Amino acid sequence: MFRSPRGTQDVLPEDSHYWRFVEEQARRHAVRCGYGEIRTPTMEETALFLRGVGEGTDIVDKEIYSFKDKGDNDLALRAEGTAPVMRAYLQHNLQQQPTPVRLFSLINAFRYDRPQAGRYREFHQFNCEAIGDTDPLVDAEIVLLLWDFLNGVGLQNLTVQLNSIGDNTCRPAYKQALLEYFSNHESELCDDCRRRLSTNPMRILDCKNPRCEPVISKAPRTIDYLSPECQEHFDRVQEYLTIREIPFQINPKLVRGLDYYTHTVFEVWPATVGAQSALGGGGRYDGLAEQIGGPATPGVGFATGLERVILNLKEQGVEPPKEPAVQVYFVVMDEEGRKQALRLATRLRADDVPSTIAPRGKSVRAQMRQANALGARYAAILGGDELQAQEITLRNLTQQEESRLPYDDAMALLTTASRKD
Ligand code: HAM
Repeated sequence: MFRSPRGTQDVLPEDSHYWRFVEEQARRHAVRCGYGEIRTPTMEETALFLRGVGEGTDIVDKEIYSFKDKGDNDLALRAEGTAPVMRAYLQHNLQQQPTPVRLFSLINAFRYDRPQAGRYREFHQFNCEAIGDTDPLVDAEIVLLLWDFLNGVGLQNLTVQLNSIGDNTCRPAYKQALLEYFSNHESELCDDCRRRLSTNPMRILDCKNPRCEPVISKAPRTIDYLSPECQEHFDRVQEYLTIREIPFQINPKLVRGLDYYTHTVFEVWPATVGAQSALGGGGRYDGLAEQIGGPATPGVGFATGLERVILNLKEQGVEPPKEPAVQVYFVVMDEEGRKQALRLATRLRADDVPSTIAPRGKSVRAQMRQANALGARYAAILGGDELQAQEITLRNLTQQEESRLPYDDAMALLTTASRKD
């Protein structure tokens, strides 16, 4: 027996209404803020992620699904959505459009991570990017879009964790301070972090090894090293969020695990759990375009994991509307009945009334049992008598009432009943 690969999931019909709901809400929130949909390939050149997300990050060093195809090309499954969107923006000259260019996508992404609740190897993101503008109002727009989406689906008790990690003007002094600090505490760091000390000291800050926690908690903070311009940008973002009365907390430890960020970084957390379970996160990435070989192009965006959104909806007891269950189940006695059921079901389906015909070779009792098991609202019974009179017996399975009607009247009744749902 085959099973789905570790860390991947099948979404079965009983769960699909959660997916339909969050995807519809995502589209609605993006579109109403002026975002257009972009779809990029599931795979990219591996180098896009090496340069964009950065070597020395967990995503690139440990989690990327990279492979050579039969033509010897180095490809990787999409590990995140921002570098691909920026690649597409540059490739298709979207900078010619009015800025910022606002793009959203609903994507699958792949990371070789240790599967656990809310952490998968294939997962799905709602991703928004605003490219081409350095205005802090756009940073705020992005935070607010994620905030409004998560609240809009019905989640409660969320907080925004906010930080600024400066830019190239203040980063060197900060990196130097960090290097000195961690070098003085080298013996207290895990093996990975000792390696990071020479490759990418900022990545020590998002080490998940408990051994490093005490050292990291006392490390120099980015917000103490911001240049006046970076401070001004950060102040503005906070001002805009305050206007909207968003409950944000400045979290100087938040640096995010991807290398492309500058200025604003943020995450949205559910009330009860820590950074490991962020519902979503993002920030500004003014250096990304250059990192992947394009001209300097500012950008800001977020992604939120749909599996985590759904997990939290279930934990908080929010159930979205279900797909309509089978409404009409045709109970038939013989081949003539099956043919007539096919004609009538076709009429109902054309009116979007979900209908199914009983499978072959089942007794009437077994058919009725199946109608109930499928959650049908009506059993539409086509026996010999009915066929003779060109009528149909409708049994309302919730109220256990029965009536016999000519075909046309029965079809009209079922269509009206279905509309009322
Ligand atoms: P990220 O923080 O790596 O950022 O991922 C964003 C969200 O994707 C997380 O907050 C989480 O909800 C979900 N996620 C990440 N990894 C997993 C996983 N293994 N299983 C389930 N869900 C997961 C980014 O990907 C950036 N591209 C966000 C961004 C957009 N920054 C700027 N623009």
